[in-house]
Amino acid sequence: MLAPQRVKIFVAKRVVLIIGGGIAAYKCLDLIRRLREREVQVRVVMTSAAQHFITPLSVSALTNERVFTNLFDLDDEREIGHIRLARDCDLIVIAPATADLLARMAGGHANDLATSVLLATDKPVLAVPAMNPHMWMNKATQRNVAQLKADGVHVLGPAAGEMAERGEAGVGRLLEVPQIITAVEGLLGGDQTAKTAAPPPPHDVSLASPRQHVLTGRSVLVTAGPTHEPIDPVRYIANRSSGKQGYAIAAAAARLGARVTLVSGPVSLPDPAGVDVVRVVTAAEMLEAAQAALPADIAIFAAAVADWRVAKPKPEKIKKGHGEAGVPKLTLTENPDILKTIAHLKRRRPALVIGFAAETQTLVAHARRKLKRKGADWIVANDVSPGTGIMGGDHNAVHLLSAAGIESWPDMSKDEVAERLMARAAADLSHYLTARTAAE
Ligand code: CTP
Repeated sequence: MLAPQRVKIFVAKRVVLIIGGGIAAYKCLDLIRRLREREVQVRVVMTSAAQHFITPLSVSALTNERVFTNLFDLDDEREIGHIRLARDCDLIVIAPATADLLARMAGGHANDLATSVLLATDKPVLAVPAMNPHMWMNKATQRNVAQLKADGVHVLGPAAGEMAERGEAGVGRLLEVPQIITAVEGLLGGDQTAKTAAPPPPHDVSLASPRQHVLTGRSVLVTAGPTHEPIDPVRYIANRSSGKQGYAIAAAAARLGARVTLVSGPVSLPDPAGVDVVRVVTAAEMLEAAQAALPADIAIFAAAVADWRVAKPKPEKIKKGHGEAGVPKLTLTENPDILKTIAHLKRRRPALVIGFAAETQTLVAHARRKLKRKGADWIVANDVSPGTGIMGGDHNAVHLLSAAGIESWPDMSKDEVAERLMARAAADLSHYLTARTAAE
């Protein structure tokens, strides 16, 4: 089914669009058209680099307004100075937000019209980055993005995919125009109940304050920790999961006011405050406990479930010297996939299903496949290679994938990942509840 046309949602809203100098600048022409269709007044500021990619003339033809390019243009300043540009609007959107523009913003520079407007504004700012994947993953860029988020700037994307440069692929593409429009709508306070076929794009978590009890009346299921699969009464198959990330998520959900059931494998962590903890040992028990915790509005599968179990565990301790060569042969069988089972439920599927992807190589590609294969709405992907210190450690560096795109978060504590993830889930839940009601 096609998405219903969404026009005339805003009532005379005003957006200042700052176009940065990147190949993706051409997408701004379509962005302007779509905003104008919705009766948004668009004033455009172009950096000098942006003018190498598209011309002020084509932009001005679409906005029906003059385009602002120069901080020291006497005409511009007399007619409408940078302070008025910064204040006479409801939202400032920067697209593409290049690495250089983000760096100058984070540093509080005001050495051209774009950065002067950004420094002078008291309006919400939405940055939509686009750049080469290496530039995006560079520590300096990640540091600048973290600083901007801490300063209250909403950062949207970038997405993963092919880059304009031949043979380059990765995280760095500008999000698609409909995704940017959805985020702009959210920030302008447009008609949030309008139906869309696509899920909302990842938007900055500062949209929901973790201090508010935004999940009161909602139920959340979390799985955490490893599972232990018995070989005999004293030995088992396990993995290195500590359960810290899942426990932090359960705690964050409870702080937002949700009723939380945490189905936990064997870990040595205390029960989080205000959380109902169901302790299990094996994958089969975890599945049973997770199903018993339904219905739930949100389900987050953070457990590192053992993929295999011993088909027939021995009832007594296996003694050395048994078996022909003195080494017992273990026949393994596959465990049920808890996330996949619950994500594919026809009835009682939680509205928002979030899985994790623990990988040691080609992280994003594997995670994207898991998103589809498991039927999750979001996948939180993390690199659990030994050198990262993530498995068992207190920090995490994750990518959040959904059908709408991918967002890479800088390295932060597991508590902070949990806080952000739950704030995001709370902010987007109404969309998924609407979609779920329609599907049932
Ligand atoms: N998961 C699950 N039940 C399983 C295996 C995994 O619920 N039997 C969930 C995990 O909790 C996680 C997601 O599926 O949310 C992905 O887990 P991961 O270990 O990364 O992937 P696997 O499905 O085990 O696939 P692979 O081992 O091939 O990476």
